[in-house]
Amino acid sequence: MTAQQKKINAAKLAIKKIKPGMNLGLGTGSTANELIHLLGKDKNLAESLKCVSSSIQTEEIAKDYSIKFQQLDEFEFLDITIDGADEIDDNGNMIKGGGGALLREKMLANMSKEYFIIIDESKKVNTLGKFPLPIEIIPFSPKSTISLISKVFEEYQMTPEIILRLDSGGLNFITDGGNFIIDCYCKKILLTDQINVKIEKIPSVITTGLFLNMSSSMIIGYDEYATEINFNKE
Ligand code: A5P
Repeated sequence: MTAQQKKINAAKLAIKKIKPGMNLGLGTGSTANELIHLLGKDKNLAESLKCVSSSIQTEEIAKDYSIKFQQLDEFEFLDITIDGADEIDDNGNMIKGGGGALLREKMLANMSKEYFIIIDESKKVNTLGKFPLPIEIIPFSPKSTISLISKVFEEYQMTPEIILRLDSGGLNFITDGGNFIIDCYCKKILLTDQINVKIEKIPSVITTGLFLNMSSSMIIGYDEYATEINFNKE
């Protein structure tokens, strides 16, 4: 079985969370795309929803279907958001932003009553950090921002390599919000709450790819089926 089939199985279970008329946040990435394809095939359900997209990429995927997007400003809350992850631990804490959509993804998650994460089993980890941690920063003076972020890591005896992300053409990767992304090769991140608070206090940092204590549940796709693990979201 391919990883793609596992993603499809996760998406098949996740689509059951979507009820007619809901305000729905749609995530970004190959797993979220599988959900969009399934939703697109259920025209009645898709047409009944008010959707918000976490990225231009997701809007592009959905444009062939009866999925209509509205601005986040038009909602007081979202009923649910369904999104993928780059890494997720047993408590539902995650690294996200591999696709560069972390800021809008975090905004949607923050406005959602329930936040479901769809993954193939390879995304489950005991400790976060093997996947490089993305951090969205303003384009002004990235070297000084990297230096300030390094100092935070040093406080925790960490010396990750920190790289300004480039696009496929070798230019600076630009997010949908017009910002840069740096990737921090930490290998292992403990004390995620403390580190996250300190990094997000740096004025030129917009947000990190650490999504802590936000997930309602994770839906894990395997070869033949998918399972859901619930978290006690405070
Ligand atoms: C997008 O910026 C990320 O946060 C994605 O949610 C994440 O990269 C998961 O993508 P895949 O489903 O393609 O692994």
